[in-house]
Amino acid sequence: MLFKEHLKKYLGEEDIDKLINALTLERTHSLIINPNKIDEITFHTMFPKVKKHPFLKNVFYYNPKDYEFGKSYLFDNGLFYIVDASSLLVSYFLNPKENSLILDMCAAPGGKTISTSFYYKNIELISNDISFQRALTLSSNIEKVGLSNISVVCGDFLKINNELNNSFDYIILDAPCSGSAMFRKMDEMEKDWSYEKVLKQQKIQIDLLNKAIDLVKPEGFIIYSTCSFSFEEDEDVILSVLKNRNDVEVIPLPHIDGEYRSKELNEAIHIFPHLYNGEGQFIAKLQKKKTTSSIKNITDKKIGNYKSNELDNFLNEYKLDFNCITNLNNQIYAHNFNFTLPSNIKFIRKGINICEIKNKNIFIPSFNLAHYLSSEISIKLDEKEAKSYLHGDTIKRNDLKKGYYVVSFNKINLGFVKCVNGILKNFYPKGLRH
Ligand SMILES: C[S@@+](CC[C@H](N)C(=O)[O-])C[C@H]1O[C@@H](n2cnc3c(N)ncnc32)[C@H](O)[C@@H]1O
Repeated sequence: MLFKEHLKKYLGEEDIDKLINALTLERTHSLIINPNKIDEITFHTMFPKVKKHPFLKNVFYYNPKDYEFGKSYLFDNGLFYIVDASSLLVSYFLNPKENSLILDMCAAPGGKTISTSFYYKNIELISNDISFQRALTLSSNIEKVGLSNISVVCGDFLKINNELNNSFDYIILDAPCSGSAMFRKMDEMEKDWSYEKVLKQQKIQIDLLNKAIDLVKPEGFIIYSTCSFSFEEDEDVILSVLKNRNDVEVIPLPHIDGEYRSKELNEAIHIFPHLYNGEGQFIAKLQKKKTTSSIKNITDKKIGNYKSNELDNFLNEYKLDFNCITNLNNQIYAHNFNFTLPSNIKFIRKGINICEIKNKNIFIPSFNLAHYLSSEISIKLDEKEAKSYLHGDTIKRNDLKKGYYVVSFNKINLGFVKCVNGILKNFYPKGLRH
């Protein structure tokens, strides 16, 4: 079936033409600022040509001809995260209560995880991706923005038994899909599109949604989203699941400007680029019904698997107060909760990566720690020094004692240096040097 043809499942001729026409136009560009580092007014003053999103907090549109944000050191150092304004609606609609445990089932590269963590305080996230490479990218994106409340895992939740059923307060299921809503962002998505692919993805989406319903606690919520315009991957997935189980219901999403609702599933919304300033997205919210099945607590505050006096000194030096310390392949992580997960779900990070152990008692502070710490404790670089630092050069400073320091420019932490005999040795990651 052709792309245009298959849209007739839920759209009239006129809507299809408008949608297809919008797909030929230039895509939008947007970002969300990191509220732990900057506020809207300061950001707008720094970049006066950006345009504020009408209702999403901390979100700005920009023209890449005005600002090459993706290439900026500010992106590498977590001042903002570049993400589509439609996809941010997932975290907007999630609206979790404080102290919730959230599973982001298909999380890489991290748009929903990071924006959820930016928007809501006192929540804990487990963010998973089946692809190890993509889970590493997710982990490195979290590192740049300096977040400490996220554990990244890699595994296939479809392959676990019942051990995690009824465990999560909220689940984000941003399912793998045929990607038609990404045509403007990635040409290869358009070339790669076929109706067979849509049907293949639908099967996986139904399995993932059924699993998400098993995993969420009674009265817990699931946000199901795709970046596909196909009825088969959107409404039809929800309707098929609802037809086959009675422990879940669909919850109407609040109205927003620029939404499209189909009559087949009026509670959910489509985001179309001709109606909303962003790429495409489908979003539905479900709630598991109250049942008698018991809630499973997979969270505990155990100490973790690592302890040493030298590390305690290191933690005290940076005033880090976390319940658990874990060593994963000589990388030390600090986190407030431990989670008991099945052995086929592997941890890639647990909270904040604070340092690497080089030789038994030598701790090298991490890039992640630099971005987690406040810039108040940093050594302020001037513009010339900051340029040298980002380039990977050493810097001369005679006023500092031997030891590690965070360096910053304009209140943005850049990374660590080690001062030896008046020379600041550069610890800025090699892959990010300009
Ligand atoms: C649409 S992307 C997710 C985008 C992400 N939520 C974000 O906002 O940046 C879908 C992801 O699902 C992953 N995936 C595919 N099948 C999966 C499965 N069975 N379990 C977990 N992740 C899966 C893919 O590797 C891909 O990274």
